[in-house]
Amino acid sequence: MKKIICDDPISAAEAAADIFETQIKEKPKTVLGLSTGSTPIGLYNELVSRSKAGKIDFSNVKTFNLDEYYPIKTGHKQSYSSFMNEHLFSKTKFSNTRLLSGEASNPHDECAKFDAEIIAAGGIDLQLLGLGRNGHIGFNEPAVSYPIGSNLVDLTEDTLDANSRFFSSDETQPTQALTMGIGSIFNARQILLLITGEGKADITKKLFDGVLHTDVPACFLLLHPNVTVILDKAAAGKL
Ligand code: F6R
Repeated sequence: MKKIICDDPISAAEAAADIFETQIKEKPKTVLGLSTGSTPIGLYNELVSRSKAGKIDFSNVKTFNLDEYYPIKTGHKQSYSSFMNEHLFSKTKFSNTRLLSGEASNPHDECAKFDAEIIAAGGIDLQLLGLGRNGHIGFNEPAVSYPIGSNLVDLTEDTLDANSRFFSSDETQPTQALTMGIGSIFNARQILLLITGEGKADITKKLFDGVLHTDVPACFLLLHPNVTVILDKAAAGKL
């Protein structure tokens, strides 16, 4: 696992954007795995600027997103489909994007279809991840065992609490989500884990303490041959 510590979230976003730029220049038909949440917003802003400056061309890129609340209407203000449109897809030339559908009548069929589509696309070349403060990746919450493929999960109290900041008091926060499985994530040829902020310092310390904690889903990444972790100084503060 390669570790890059940057001064602040802006330089972390730039370092992450460099990896995206290199990947897409080398392979214009790149398949990307994307994430949502606070962490990637700076990166997405940087990717939009580089696209507008003609440095990155997303027109041949295909994307799969890590997760989506369930149930939730596509286009609902709090859906991850809306998040992606707001921060990335509507701002530049993406034409081939796929999120798990929070409207699927059969979530298990939807997950199987999603995994099959990733395989049909040739697999993910570069998977972006954020880190939950409980160690989750995607919405794979700490557990004793983990489904390999994409699946429907019950969100933990900690995750519901961490994400409640995005919901106003009159909005119902879904307690379940569809997520890529640990195996689907692990199949990516390259993984970029972006971690910023002091609130992630404790879990970051646990990730790097030399032990494979099975209750920290991100620890599975320690076994992957091509993972880069980009951190800001605040997240790296306890290393
Ligand atoms: C989001 C996702 C989550 C987040 C994680 C960190 O698609 O899969 O694993 O990456 O919860 O969220 P933030 O960046 O909001 O701290």
